[in-house]
Amino acid sequence: MTRHFISLLDLSSDEFRGLIHRAIELKNNRDSNYQPLKGQVLAMIFEKSSTRTRISFEAGMSHFGGSAIFLSPRDTQLGRGEPLQDSAKVISSMVDGIMLRTNGHDMVTTFAQYSSVPVINGLTDQEHPCQLLADMQTYFELRGDIQGKTVAWIGDGNNMCHSYIHAATVLDFTLHIASPAGYMPDTAIVAAAGERVKFFDTPLAAAEQADLVVTDVWASMGQEEEQKQREIAFKDYQVNAEVMAMANKDALFMHCLPAHRGEEVSADVIDGVQSVVFPEAENRLHAQKALLEFLLTKK
Ligand code: CP
Ligand code: NVA
Repeated sequence: MTRHFISLLDLSSDEFRGLIHRAIELKNNRDSNYQPLKGQVLAMIFEKSSTRTRISFEAGMSHFGGSAIFLSPRDTQLGRGEPLQDSAKVISSMVDGIMLRTNGHDMVTTFAQYSSVPVINGLTDQEHPCQLLADMQTYFELRGDIQGKTVAWIGDGNNMCHSYIHAATVLDFTLHIASPAGYMPDTAIVAAAGERVKFFDTPLAAAEQADLVVTDVWASMGQEEEQKQREIAFKDYQVNAEVMAMANKDALFMHCLPAHRGEEVSADVIDGVQSVVFPEAENRLHAQKALLEFLLTKK
């Protein structure tokens, strides 16, 4: 059966840890002669903008001897209403893997249903699992296994928050969440995580004794017109020095980027000593190379 990567819940905890360790190994031993995906092609369909996701997948395929094709729905028949299932069958008959970044999560699940090759979720409105591979790689590299640790999620209960909830389930850590009323994560995703997720009324309370503090933009892609109203709702949800002071002394700060200094995070935190946002971003490359190897060499 074709393996897809739509959600972190598609991985067992051994597989998730295996990918992290492999990503660290690939990062530390770059070998240009190792080309496990020689001649393979990854199609990448982007309904939304991207810097990191596009570049890391494209560079990763190239390092492994393969190539990637960037497709925007505007320039394909998808944008003119060709049914998803027809597109999935046709595209998968010509390439070895398909990565999609879409608005609706069901577009990625439908694609996977009709694709004969692995489908990778490169972000939907619901989840961003590739980012969590990189975030967890970064934590493991700097602090060791995250099992039993405490992570604080401050801000929007969005796609990143959902993937943090899934990571807490698969890797067995506790997730403290502080989100304003009306911006809580999806109740079904929270319910499935059971006791690993705990809610707090303020960022200060959520960050107490955390080993890792994470946030994300107040308005995600597609929510640009809500920016003003969200600035009001989230004004007390900034990760700043006061919030970081509640966390453990060796706590790390992460953000998937792009970030807005002065909104969800203060400049002194994101540019400070506890911030690991740039290794985190670089690790998108290494973590996704491990993912591509895992999905595309097992045919
Ligand atoms: N973090 C992330 O997915 O970045 P891009 O939107 O630039 O791909
Ligand atoms: N929550 C953000 C993540 C960007 C990588 C968004 O969906 O825009």
